[in-house]
Amino acid sequence: MTEQQLRELFESLTLEEKIGQLLQLAPFFFKENIIGEITGPMEELGITNEDISRAGSVLGIGGAKEMKEIQSAYLERSEKKIPLVFMADIIHGYRTIFPIPLGLGCTWDMESAHKMARVSAMEASAGGVHVTFSPMVDLVRDARWGRVMESTGEDPYLNAQFARALVEGYQGDGIHKDGNIAACAKHFAAYGAVESGREYNTVDVSEFILRDQYFPSFKAAVDAGVKLIMTAFNTVLGIPASGNKWLLRDVLRKEWGFKGVVISDYGAVKELIAHGYAKDERDAAKKALEAGVDIEMMSSTYPNHLKDLIENGDLDVQLLDEAVWRILTLKNEIGLFENPYKGASEELEKRLILCDAHRQAAREVAQKSLVLLKNEHVLPLDPESKEQIAIIGPFADTGAILGGWSWHGRFEESVTLADGIRERIGKERVEAYQTPFMLSEEEIEQAVALAQKADVVILAIGESHEWSGEGGSRAFLTLPGNQEQLAEKIFELNKKTVVVLFNGRPLEIRELVHQAPAVLEAWFPGTEGGHAISDILFGDVAPEGRLSISIPYTVGQCPIYYNAFNTGRPYVPNNRFTTHYIDAPNDPLYPFGYGLTYTTFAYSDAKLSRSILRKGETIELSVTVKNTGTRAATETVQLYIRDVVGTVVRPIKELKGFQKVHLAPNETCRVRFTIDETMLRYVNHDCQYVSDPGTFIAMVGPNSKELIQLPFELVE
Ligand code: GLC
Repeated sequence: MTEQQLRELFESLTLEEKIGQLLQLAPFFFKENIIGEITGPMEELGITNEDISRAGSVLGIGGAKEMKEIQSAYLERSEKKIPLVFMADIIHGYRTIFPIPLGLGCTWDMESAHKMARVSAMEASAGGVHVTFSPMVDLVRDARWGRVMESTGEDPYLNAQFARALVEGYQGDGIHKDGNIAACAKHFAAYGAVESGREYNTVDVSEFILRDQYFPSFKAAVDAGVKLIMTAFNTVLGIPASGNKWLLRDVLRKEWGFKGVVISDYGAVKELIAHGYAKDERDAAKKALEAGVDIEMMSSTYPNHLKDLIENGDLDVQLLDEAVWRILTLKNEIGLFENPYKGASEELEKRLILCDAHRQAAREVAQKSLVLLKNEHVLPLDPESKEQIAIIGPFADTGAILGGWSWHGRFEESVTLADGIRERIGKERVEAYQTPFMLSEEEIEQAVALAQKADVVILAIGESHEWSGEGGSRAFLTLPGNQEQLAEKIFELNKKTVVVLFNGRPLEIRELVHQAPAVLEAWFPGTEGGHAISDILFGDVAPEGRLSISIPYTVGQCPIYYNAFNTGRPYVPNNRFTTHYIDAPNDPLYPFGYGLTYTTFAYSDAKLSRSILRKGETIELSVTVKNTGTRAATETVQLYIRDVVGTVVRPIKELKGFQKVHLAPNETCRVRFTIDETMLRYVNHDCQYVSDPGTFIAMVGPNSKELIQLPFELVE
């Protein structure tokens, strides 16, 4: 539709029809058998059939057939024939499920992100989805929060790279094309900073930290052309995000120039009342629209109160008009007026979903997501040996390795760990014992007996996917049930033992790691998880995952993150009056950027091209990296920079770049980074984005701890 035609359609709308476009409902409201009778959910929302027949969008559908049914039934009853737009949570795959985003974060690989987004978009588009509520770009520093599994980790720079890669992957060469879907960055903003890691809890972060740490990934999504932004449940500077004019109009639209649609999170507009920011639903509707929430997801303050607010002069109809215009523009960009069934095809669904190419893509991304934490000459296992392998634990032989946001994913379509290993070395060498999380004495004895008979034991343990994700905050980070007791018994056998961890968050594993000869962090690796883990265990692929989030020594350290401030009393050993705990170290068990592989790398001859940097000029940092081991592998060379003195305190280091290099044994390469003044800028107390002349320290190395330091000066 041309803009003129769209404008004419817009002008033809009644007030009620305009308001209807702002309402998003779940599919069952639109189903044939509901339109015609008041059901519980409708009564609860206080909406009528007329409201449903004027609604603008649908939250979640089960495939092309259902989408077509809903769209055609809806259009039949719609006077102005404005098609519904279908939105869904395609977070890390549609039916071919990829590693959880935290695993994707550990790939440090934008190609993997792009690959995941492309496959997700193609399958979801065939399933009739037009918009995905992804990427979730929240910065997360607290493993207690369940949705850490949905983030790419604790670093603003790395999260921004992933935000851009995912938005570009989903939206491709235009959201009007089949196979591409509009992306929605969420949750704006700072949802990951919930106090105590407790779900939906208060967030209280200063403006300059918001801007310096929490906004960059959202800004990257906006700059990449993301079509929607979803508001967070939490408060931002004391005002809930869904009622926060400063956040949604001043920052998002005026400062950043975002022109797309703002959608609330599920029921978040009505929750302004519970927050104590709105006195009733009428007040909530007024505050949300004034703040700039275009679509109200699954609450009904807009259909129930906007008409009255506008007709009584309590709300400017212009605010409604601009929201409606943005929604109609999105629908027009998708091409829904020309084809209300855009993308949906049962035939294409059958052909694309879980096809070999998509499975292979998921397998490759999963391989890169796995992080080798410890390896005392156990891995890789020899696929040609005659060793008998016992796989024991709650993840030994289960398809429940998809993670908490795998929605359409089906466990039975997963490659289990035991499947992957059997396929690789033959089932006669493998015996799997799928245990509960809480084992009885007999079950532990059975496990020990099986382990006793084997030459190699693979302990497949962790936490259920139901223990993370939305509503999955934990106050403890220990392994659920009595898995630690199982592990103890197995370790006592002194067998060649590998622990493979399946979890949606960093867990408290210091005792486990202390005793285990080898530990591989698998997160939730997705549909192809069993293949990918087997590829790593038998050395077909060398592990290259690097932690995108710190693994705490204990939950008492949370929130813990590498880019912390130095404090006025940085830790000095044996000095009580410096920052430390009496009963735990300051450092995490494993730091941001850490990960092992099947070879070793040496860094040498690191230098800067100059020690003075002027604005508009650059300095080159170069370092020689050598593969000093016996196997080819990939190293992720990381660049950090510290601003020693700022007009506000500055982190002791910040990731500013990274490069992956694949080296054969004894091969060396010279890795080069270009540093310029823009990389030294930060948000100061007046919320300006500035750099200060003074001393900086460039650091290069394999992770955020083992770094070669190279000072330089920025001069005016
Ligand atoms: C949920 C989540 C959000 C999701 C939405 C729709 O409550 O917070 O991430 O996109 O509702 O399912």
